[in-house]
Amino acid sequence: MNHLFLHCRPGFEKECAAEITERAAELGQYGYIKTQESSAYVLFVTHEPEGARHLVQNLPFHELIFVRQWFAAAPIVTHLPPEDRVTPLLAVAETFPAVRELVVETPDSNAGKELSTLGRKLASPFVRALRQTGCVQAQAPWFLHLVLLSGQRAYIGISPVNNRAPWPMGILRLRQPKGAPSRATLKLEEAWHYFIPADEWDQRLANGMHAVDLGAAPGGWTWQLVQRGMFVEAVDNGPMAQELMDTGLVTHQRVDGFSYRPDKPVHWLVCDIADIPARVASLISDWALEGYCREAVFNLKLPMKQRYAQVKQLAERMGERFDAAGLDVELRFKQLYHDREEVTGHLRVF
Ligand SMILES: C[S@@+](CC[C@H](N)C(=O)[O-])C[C@H]1O[C@@H](n2cnc3c(N)ncnc32)[C@H](O)[C@@H]1O
Repeated sequence: MNHLFLHCRPGFEKECAAEITERAAELGQYGYIKTQESSAYVLFVTHEPEGARHLVQNLPFHELIFVRQWFAAAPIVTHLPPEDRVTPLLAVAETFPAVRELVVETPDSNAGKELSTLGRKLASPFVRALRQTGCVQAQAPWFLHLVLLSGQRAYIGISPVNNRAPWPMGILRLRQPKGAPSRATLKLEEAWHYFIPADEWDQRLANGMHAVDLGAAPGGWTWQLVQRGMFVEAVDNGPMAQELMDTGLVTHQRVDGFSYRPDKPVHWLVCDIADIPARVASLISDWALEGYCREAVFNLKLPMKQRYAQVKQLAERMGERFDAAGLDVELRFKQLYHDREEVTGHLRVF
């Protein structure tokens, strides 16, 4: 398999392409990109015949910033007959190793959305056919992906169960919680789902922990912290939602988030201040280096150009400062579904 199919946010194909080209080269895999602006996907075609499969097995998915989901694919399947699309798809699937489950996806574009009904219709007969031919096995280490590009054209391929996004198309669909004072609340919730394994939530997002929320107003992120039973210092000149203040868990500090420090170190720092990204990255590093927080979730606004290069540079700069100080950290970035012109960072200090 030499086609690597990559889902990304529409409009970020260039970043996705730049990232995969660079990361693949680090593993000795070279190739070329096929993409179209705003298509919400990128294909990286490797020169080596098994290059794409090598990449999904050896490049850690969680290190990728602009890639939402991926799979190693066969070349595009064309001329799917409307009366029987399953047979030609099955013929390709039979050349793959056994899979655990079928994931039917479309690109996250307007054109893609129109295909989701067709995808849903195709899913049951395709799964039935896969079962009948022994392609599905409960413990198999692969997921099978089918991405429809039109009624006639599709990509089909596989992703390793332990090196992929856990959600179809890499999109975690969350409901706006009743009572949260802003839609921004979903960004922090998604970040936690993405960066913190479910079985560690009780320990790392624990009742009674202390947190600081920089750029907190009107309180969507503070609301998430309060839901976990945390005490929150909400730092913002703007007003906080009264219901949050009424919980008794929130203290509002009307001061500048860049100079504020808490009286005592806290477990969580969250920061949703839309400012120059280098300034925010430096602020988060300072907090960790000064010992004020153990974990942080923060947003970095993306520049207009060279967006991948800029994020990489900021991540490297942060990493260099931690290394120089001998601080053992985990630092990851992701453009989450609820991020627009930004990426979310997660820092954990050990
Ligand atoms: C995107 S909003 C935050 C939304 C919030 N996370 C929520 O979920 O409701 C950004 C906030 O950052 C605040 N802000 C901007 N510069 C700031 C600074 N230097 N210090 C503190 N807050 C700042 C703004 O007042 C604004 O309320």
